[in-house]
Amino acid sequence: MLSPAGTGADRIAELFWWMLAGGLVIWVAVVALGVYAVRARPHRHSPKVSTSLIVGGGVVLPVVLLTALLWYGLKLIPTLQMPGGEPQVRVVVTGEQWWWRVRYRAAGADPIELANEIRLPVGATSELLLESADVIHSLWIPAIAGKVDMIPGRTNRLIVQPTETGVFRGVCAEYCGTAHAAMEFSAVVMEPEAFADWLAAQAQPAIGVEGAEPTAGETGFLANGCGACHRIRGTAADGRLGPDLTHVASRVGLAAGVLPNRRETLKRWIREPHALKPGVRMPAFDMLPEPEIEQIAAFLDSLQ
Ligand code: CUA
Repeated sequence: MLSPAGTGADRIAELFWWMLAGGLVIWVAVVALGVYAVRARPHRHSPKVSTSLIVGGGVVLPVVLLTALLWYGLKLIPTLQMPGGEPQVRVVVTGEQWWWRVRYRAAGADPIELANEIRLPVGATSELLLESADVIHSLWIPAIAGKVDMIPGRTNRLIVQPTETGVFRGVCAEYCGTAHAAMEFSAVVMEPEAFADWLAAQAQPAIGVEGAEPTAGETGFLANGCGACHRIRGTAADGRLGPDLTHVASRVGLAAGVLPNRRETLKRWIREPHALKPGVRMPAFDMLPEPEIEQIAAFLDSLQ
């Protein structure tokens, strides 16, 4: 939060430092007056001086200082809601218990859906449309912008303008049930050309599955009913309850920030999701023999 990489976050960081400085001035003045009051001889000052100390220090100073800080804070709000320019990218982000459904709208094509990862071009203005599928969540990428609630039945907007490339941590900032603390995502800020290439690749069906002879892993994925909740474009898996896995291997993390995305962690997640993320809705598949879990993990790991 205090090392900002976006125009919203740098204004908020600046506000924090001004508030801190203002608070420090008031604190030092109050403590100094307290020490003076304890040490000063009684009746040292005339009643007139005493009254002006009380009115000046107790009324005038706080009113002036707090009004100045409040004015400065209120002045920031409009600039946070629209930091210049029409948005170049629109992303619909839906909070679900306990992960993030992320959809990009491509002109004339199906929306591109992914999970727990929001990619944005650096230097551009992007609009996040925030929705909820169940309870109130709150989306917060501390390094990039302020937080905005996701409320069932409403669409809230958050305008973001990242200024640096990199991978930034995003969190849910509103208690939303058992796994609230394990509801994170990655905000990946890329150069505009790399972002355009990434988006074009995400629009394609999963690489190597369409038309090809299904691998043992794909067959196992479908045979065990994974496709009832998960969708993989280009295969028969068309579930909408859980995260879309079309390009799951291209993502930074697994299970909304719980695990790094590797074949080993995929296997652990299939075997024991509840041990890794208490409250998660996905059933455990620990009854499957190890070679079958290995095959399914290898299939998912191939979905770049
Ligand atoms: Cu979602 Cu807390």
